[in-house]
Amino acid sequence: MTAASGQSSMACLRELRPSLGRLLDRHLAKAQPWFPHSYIPWSRASNYDGPLRGTPWAPEQSTLPQAVQDALVVNLLTEDNLPSYHTSIYKVLDDEAWMVWAHRWTAEEARHSDALRTYLHVTRAVDPVALEQWRMRHVSTGYTGDHATALHLLAYVTVQELATREAHRNAGTACGDPAGQQLMSRIAADENLHMMFYRDLYADALHIAPDLAMQALADVICAFRMPGATLPGFHQRALRIAAAGIYDLDVHREHVLQPLLRTLGVTTLTGLGPDGERARERIGQHLERLPAAAQRVRELAQRAAVAEQQGTR
Ligand SMILES: [Fe+2]
Ligand SMILES: [Fe+2]
Repeated sequence: MTAASGQSSMACLRELRPSLGRLLDRHLAKAQPWFPHSYIPWSRASNYDGPLRGTPWAPEQSTLPQAVQDALVVNLLTEDNLPSYHTSIYKVLDDEAWMVWAHRWTAEEARHSDALRTYLHVTRAVDPVALEQWRMRHVSTGYTGDHATALHLLAYVTVQELATREAHRNAGTACGDPAGQQLMSRIAADENLHMMFYRDLYADALHIAPDLAMQALADVICAFRMPGATLPGFHQRALRIAAAGIYDLDVHREHVLQPLLRTLGVTTLTGLGPDGERARERIGQHLERLPAAAQRVRELAQRAAVAEQQGTR
């Protein structure tokens, strides 16, 4: 990033103020209040060992397939790092109008980890001690977004919110528990509204500063990693999650990137200079490479599953 592109990016952000106000009003009108406690199947709860002298957790208590357990752990630990995300946004968008959105968004996001953890505890779906140890490690490590410009941050959260919606929704579908599915659909609906806010803001950014916004979008799409990628054991879990079809590069291409690029009008956008055109080409080339990359992940996942089976015999 050059100093000039950083400044132009901030200038674009200032020009987005009217869009910010409009989209925040739309978000507040659309967002339905909901209450995590009402989604938790409390009748399935029982005390754990420790001060209450209940029953310790054991793997056979979980009714969820391993890949769904993996997905829920990844989704929950990703949500757990909310303080780091808030700080990342604060560092880039340190301005009163933007922080109104950031605080509201943070308040909504906080429900997700709250509800997911309670669901996992009540249903004994994963080892609660390991879960807490992973949370401590993950949140203590923190997340540094490392976004080159404010537009990179906006592009990143646009893709990430949609990817997160798919991750929650697909984990819910795969979990085989109506209560779990209801909760995860509810969380996915929140992520959808967050995605719409950022996406429509980004559509305006592409018209205000087409070249800069297209370059930031290309940079983000070509190097995209979920914020949970740093969590303990992510690689093995990601392979099992991909093998189960909950989230893989096909889902990423078909249900995240393609619809997003279509709605943003990336292929039809006019007014691009040479830098913007090159960025648009980079996005196209990245999409073309994804099916082969998805196939490689499938092969890796198959090999990992075989190795795991042989290891447990
Ligand atoms: Fe969330
Ligand atoms: Fe979200």
